[in-house]
Amino acid sequence: MIEITRKTTFDKTLFLQQAKALLEEKNYLAALSNLASLFKLTLPACNWTGFYLAQHDALTLGPFQGLPACTLIPFDKGVCGKTYRSKTAQRVDDVHQFPGHIACDSASESELCVPVVVDGQCVLIIDLDAPEKNFFTSEMEEAFVQCARLIEQAYRAHDWSRAVLVQ
Ligand code: SME
Repeated sequence: MIEITRKTTFDKTLFLQQAKALLEEKNYLAALSNLASLFKLTLPACNWTGFYLAQHDALTLGPFQGLPACTLIPFDKGVCGKTYRSKTAQRVDDVHQFPGHIACDSASESELCVPVVVDGQCVLIIDLDAPEKNFFTSEMEEAFVQCARLIEQAYRAHDWSRAVLVQ
């Protein structure tokens, strides 16, 4: 098991090294649970860090850290739905200005949502919430886009398509 240290500043290189190590785990539930924890340790100011899985007919709550959240998000709703449909990262500086934002935790003020795309299909979404406006930087967005690519590689390598059901 790699050692995950608590950092007070955002260290993109260390974050990606740690994410890559945790993605050596073949079980998707175990790997994503550890990643949700890594996200929270990497960005301790976030009030919610985790995943939504593109399953059946909705985005379904996956491993996370934070308050209990919406279990099902329609593909056409919220920041997560926009991320799913556009297959591009959504960095929302002020969630109150985002039409249709779904507030799972009323403390959330800004949000970063990043898709994991495999063979042209969005299969997972990384979702991060912070209790202050303009929290997420372009450097953080780039790091989580790179993390999404690592997840894509693990998804292929460990053949997660059988476990993470896609619509
Ligand atoms: N805010 C998201 C919903 C998920 S929670 O933030 C955990 C959205 O608007 O899709």
